[in-house]
Amino acid sequence: MASARRSALAATRAPLMREWIYSMLYDPVDGYFSKHKAPVAPMTSPTPFPSLETRHDYLAYVAAQYATLETKWLTPSEIFSPYLGRAIANHIASLGVTRVVEIGSGTGTLARDIVDSLKAREYADRKFEFVSIEISKSLSERQAARMEGAGHADVYRSRHADALLESTWRQFADEQPTLIVGLEVLDNLPHDKVQVVDGVWHQTRVQVQQREAFGETLREALEPVTDDGPILRALDAYERVKSAPAQRTTRDAMFKWLLDATETPDPVWLPTGAEQLVRAVASTVPNHELLLGDFDFLPGVAIAGEFAPIVSSTVDGKARDRGELLSAPRGSVDIFFPTDFRLLAAMYEQVGVGGAGEIFKAHEFLGMVACDDVLTACTLADGSIPLLDDFANTSFARLSSTLHV
Ligand SMILES: C[S@@+](CC[C@H](N)C(=O)[O-])C[C@H]1O[C@@H](n2cnc3c(N)ncnc32)[C@H](O)[C@@H]1O
Repeated sequence: MASARRSALAATRAPLMREWIYSMLYDPVDGYFSKHKAPVAPMTSPTPFPSLETRHDYLAYVAAQYATLETKWLTPSEIFSPYLGRAIANHIASLGVTRVVEIGSGTGTLARDIVDSLKAREYADRKFEFVSIEISKSLSERQAARMEGAGHADVYRSRHADALLESTWRQFADEQPTLIVGLEVLDNLPHDKVQVVDGVWHQTRVQVQQREAFGETLREALEPVTDDGPILRALDAYERVKSAPAQRTTRDAMFKWLLDATETPDPVWLPTGAEQLVRAVASTVPNHELLLGDFDFLPGVAIAGEFAPIVSSTVDGKARDRGELLSAPRGSVDIFFPTDFRLLAAMYEQVGVGGAGEIFKAHEFLGMVACDDVLTACTLADGSIPLLDDFANTSFARLSSTLHV
């Protein structure tokens, strides 16, 4: 019996890096986002921008919120609530869509702010719906409760589902014009780690090196790329974006890209989760705009490689960035990546639905969609506007099939 179990174990392939990251973040039992005490928190009242004198005062205010709320992350949706939601509601109204789907609604703050704002204008007379697609059961329940508490149960549905799966999007496979929005979701999507070895792209699996009484020691194992889905497609897009001098001899030798190994010595953290997301949406929802906002750059990353993540664990209540990934304790580690928006757009366009991607720095996009009263409410006493000035390392992508309303 024991030996049968052992051979069953041996027959199970070690997970690809993206599968391992996925389980670290989203395992229903001990994943980082599944824990009962979620790492994101809502603010109890809006940031009083006009009564804060300078940027220094504003930063001190935000730092005090972190301490008071004992939260790990305050995202722009929280810090700029309800104004960011109002700005996005302007965008929704200008598109004229009647269905909004938010991926990864976190605490539900942006959803509430958007629906508040839509109901306060002519959308109150129109039939519209707002749906959250959320992978964490505890956050999904929290979002539903929050929206019900805000009086929005009439237009709101919460779906506990994985946005990377096509099956999740089939319920929207009609012609209804749909805005799909996701803020700070891309950074938490799984990535694969690939590397050129002797001129051939290799993928990474996470293997158990040693089992011990109190845990396992893990190691990375490289092997030539065999994944014929997300890794291959994301590599295709990566290669196009980088204009790498790749040459393929035959279809059979497609992985033997004759890159000079010395030109690509570093691993690449390939956004295969994002590839799955844009493919699932683009190929399933015919009449959409996909609006994604996230970090385009992360400072001070200690892990090696292009698009490498920050791995932040909380030990004894203190956040600590780790220099390596595999020994991170399960459930207490956040893993988040920068997004290369050109690569994101290339992956979307390669799905071939005829849609294109437009990329904006956050201040450009928000400057376009925020109206004067939003900007005024977010202006400090010294005249600076954190909604536009902050998050200089953030961009937005509008990925759209030819949306018709
Ligand atoms: C960093 S939080 C951002 C929350 C919120 N959008 C905000 O800006 O405050 C990432 C959110 O995305 C959710 N998420 C991550 N991967 C997902 C997936 N594959 N499908 C649906 N939700 C996902 C997480 O559970 C979490 O709610």
